[in-house]
Amino acid sequence: MIRKIFVAGLLIAGVSTAFAQNDPIAQRQATMKGVGQLWYGDIGKMMKGEIPYNHATVTSAIEKMAAAGKAMPALFPDNSKTGGETKALPAVWEKKADFDARWARMSTEATAAMAAVKDEASFKVAQPNLNKNCQECHTTYRVRNN
Ligand code: HEC
Repeated sequence: MIRKIFVAGLLIAGVSTAFAQNDPIAQRQATMKGVGQLWYGDIGKMMKGEIPYNHATVTSAIEKMAAAGKAMPALFPDNSKTGGETKALPAVWEKKADFDARWARMSTEATAAMAAVKDEASFKVAQPNLNKNCQECHTTYRVRNN
């Protein structure tokens, strides 16, 4: 009896894991969107001086970058090259080692920035370097949307 319940539990766990893995395109788009909302939103406005510097927002944006850099490589399995209105270019799978290295670099640089960014001045030094990660990868690996 206990054994049966255990097996049923494993099956359910297995099915829900498979379900989540079935939509890596939606997951990676949602992860990027989560990073982009702050990065292209409040962070961009702070850089332009349109809104005041807010350390909590900056920390949260950098933490999201660090986490995304770790989560993203697993969300580009071979069976997700097309579908779901993906903007990922075939280069992702043709140059997977370089692509994955870029995620690792983004995560490492964001983690370093968490210690380095203490105020507005240090944020303004770190931001353009962090931003290069986004731009350089999108240039090579994402369909241009403008
Ligand atoms: C290593 C490569 C890489 C890095 C680094 C990267 N991106 Fe992306 N990004 C992509 C790819 C590939 C897509 C397209 C995903 C898809 O449509 O399947 C994407 C999509 C996006 C999208 C669109 C999401 C949507 O709504 O579908 C946003 C916004 C975005 N990225 C923001 C950022 C920001 C901000 C950074 C830096 C903090 C960043 N990205 C860093 C590769 C990268």
